Amino acid sequence: MKKIIIGNWKMNPRTSREAEGWFSAVAKAVASIKKIEVVICAPFVFLSPLKKISKKIILGAQDSFIGDVGPFTGEISPEMLYGLGVRYVIFGHSERRELGETNELINKKIKSALSSGIVPVICVGERERDLDHGYFDIVKTQINECLKGVSKDAISKIIVAYEPVWSISSTKNRRDATADDAREMAVFIRKVLSDLSSPDIAHKTRVLYGGSVNERDAEEYLSNGGVHGLLVGKASLSTKKFSDIIKICETLGK
Ligand code: PGA
Repeated sequence: MKKIIIGNWKMNPRTSREAEGWFSAVAKAVASIKKIEVVICAPFVFLSPLKKISKKIILGAQDSFIGDVGPFTGEISPEMLYGLGVRYVIFGHSERRELGETNELINKKIKSALSSGIVPVICVGERERDLDHGYFDIVKTQINECLKGVSKDAISKIIVAYEPVWSISSTKNRRDATADDAREMAVFIRKVLSDLSSPDIAHKTRVLYGGSVNERDAEEYLSNGGVHGLLVGKASLSTKKFSDIIKICETLGK
C-alpha cells in the first residue's frame, strides 16, 4: 500500500498568486517522487488554478456537501469538486467539529463523497487524554457514527486520520503526541474498522497521523507510529518543510 502525505492548508494563503507559488514550489520538489502519493488540500477558490500547475500533486479539498446539485446556498458538492480534479476531501476535522459539525452530518457528507468517486479523509481524535482511557471510546464512537451505513467495500477506500486535538498546532497549550501514542491508536482504529467490516478490509484502509507534524519528527511517526502517512497542517504552509517531509516519506518507501 502506498504511503501518503496530505497537506492541509486550512484557510491559507491570502491570494491565488501565493497559492500558485507554493504549489509550484512543492511540485518541483516532488518531481522525482515515485513511491508515495502527495496530496494538497487547498481552499476551494484556489483549486482550479492549482490543477493546471502539476499532475503529480493530487488535489484535495477541506469539505464538501451532500448531494450533487440543488438549493443549498453556499455549499459545494463532491461532484463539482471531482470535476475540478479533486480526489480527496477532509471530513470531521476538529476545527469544523468546533463550528458545530456532528458525526451525523459528517456521515452524510462521507457517503455523498464516496458516491462521487472522492476518497474521504476522516479525522478522528479526542480533545483530552483522561486517565481512564476514555479516549478510545471517543474515537470508536466517532468512527462508528461517521461510517454508519457505509459499505464494507467502501471502508477499504477511505482514509482515517488520527488527530488528537491536544496535539494540533492551533490548540492552546498543545502537547506533542509520541509515535507510541499514534501507534497505539492506529492499532485500535484498525480493530474498530475490522469490527465494522472484516480484518482483510481493515488491513487495506490507510490510517494516518496528524498533529503538528514537522520535518524533524516526520520520520519517527512514519517509522514507529504504525501509520501509512501523515496529515500535515502548519508545516505544509512552508514549501521547504513540506517538501522535506515528502522526501523523508519517499526515502522510507512502502
Ligand atoms: P497541524 O494541523 O499540523 O497544524 O497541527 C494538522 C491538522 O489540523 O490537520
